Amino acid sequence: MTLHIIILAAGNGKRMRSSLPKVLHRVGGKFLLEHVITTAKQLNPEVITVVYGHQGEHVRTALSDLDVQWVEQKEQLGTGHAVSEALPHVAPNAKVLILFGDVPLISVATLQTLLTQTPQDALGLLTVVVDHPHGFGRIMRDAADNICGIIEEKDATPVQRKIREIYPGTLLLSALHLRQWLPKLSANNASGEYYLTELIALAAEQRCTITDVRVTQTEEVQGVNNRAELAKLERYYQKQRAQELMHQGLTLMDPDRFDLRGNLTVGIDTIIDINVLIEGNVTIGNNCYIGPHVVLKNAQIGDGTEIKANSVVEDAIIGTDCRVGPFARIRPGTHMGACVHIGNFVEVKNVKIGHSSKVNHLSYLGDAILGAEVNVGAGTITCNYDGVNKHQTIIGDRAFIGSDTQLIAPVTVGAEATIGAGSTITKDAPANMLTLSRSVQKSIKGWQRSSKEKKAKN
Ligand code: UD1
Ligand code: MG
Repeated sequence: MTLHIIILAAGNGKRMRSSLPKVLHRVGGKFLLEHVITTAKQLNPEVITVVYGHQGEHVRTALSDLDVQWVEQKEQLGTGHAVSEALPHVAPNAKVLILFGDVPLISVATLQTLLTQTPQDALGLLTVVVDHPHGFGRIMRDAADNICGIIEEKDATPVQRKIREIYPGTLLLSALHLRQWLPKLSANNASGEYYLTELIALAAEQRCTITDVRVTQTEEVQGVNNRAELAKLERYYQKQRAQELMHQGLTLMDPDRFDLRGNLTVGIDTIIDINVLIEGNVTIGNNCYIGPHVVLKNAQIGDGTEIKANSVVEDAIIGTDCRVGPFARIRPGTHMGACVHIGNFVEVKNVKIGHSSKVNHLSYLGDAILGAEVNVGAGTITCNYDGVNKHQTIIGDRAFIGSDTQLIAPVTVGAEATIGAGSTITKDAPANMLTLSRSVQKSIKGWQRSSKEKKAKN
């Protein structure tokens, strides 16, 4: 048996009230459709076909690196019509698993159960019992409790609307059956659409066996039709991620105040304090401490490092046993060796910093290379941009940069050089020497400060 997965993602998602196609809204930083495709891939199907339509080019562009077959549904005439558009691409003997692009957190395990428990030639679907079935297709069963149809909310009678067993949008059947039954869909319903769910009644009429796998974790099959549902799924997703990470040996001070929008690999005995946001691909070593309100995006943090409160780290590599923050901004291209200290209100960008160097207060370093054990005083600035081009500053090992120094790049400070506080360094400063540029200090005798009283007398 070959497995062909069709993912429906052409609907316009009116209820989102968005200029963005629904499937490009995100949960955990990933597009809704990306979640479904990633899950589908894990079932090793022969082909994954994504039916796209509404603002389809945006969807295709956003997900162009995923290896799937794209089929356009020019007019959104319903879920049944969407599957018909994909059907010419399906092999005659295939099993077809149909997923909805707006049901993002369906698990691989649940789908595998559906695949293994649905008998050959039967139609299999997921079902779930929910407290609030509003908006879903309701499962209809006959006197013998066999599934005999699905009735959509808009077409249901008040009695049918009370049914709490619903269809979450996952269907498994043969390509043969799809070819037989899809042309029979009528669009004779409240929405005037070709409902995929009408297939169930057709299958029952043809005496096809219909089996279901009951899902107990309702969030797994929760669809996203509006932003309230999106927010609910986001919380569920974050809770799941937090649980996984804690089981891997991470301490989360409050799993309800932790957000992962990407992938996090973390060692053991690391502590993440409240309201930390992790984005992109982040690796954190063992025994680290990530303080409250820290943002880490595409960052690598070495063992034993502490990132203190309110720091933002992006596209950077931080070595072992470093101290960063509070209130530090580590921008792209930063690479710190071991035991580096970056203090409060320090911004670094595209800077390599050797081991044990310190930039402790209120500085900006951009496009620079610092050796080991360098000490950068408070308020130091690399003037790296002349309005047109960026230039580099190089500081040798054990150099000492006095406070409030401006280093006008391109410029080199030699190893063990000392720069006097308040200097504007425009030329290279030699190694082992004191370099300073400062006007001579003078004091004026008998000078009188003007005061308000004197001003009044005049
Ligand atoms: C659908 C089901 C409903 C089920 C619910 C589960 C139908 C008729 N109804 O309702 O029984 O309980 O999902 O979430 O199937 N789509 C297309 N082309 C179209 C229309 C829709 O590709 O012409 C796609 C959408 O992008 C979406 C999916 O199909 O990913 C479901 O469409 P949606 O409009 O959200 O259907 P629901 O009203 O949620
Ligand atoms: Mg839906």
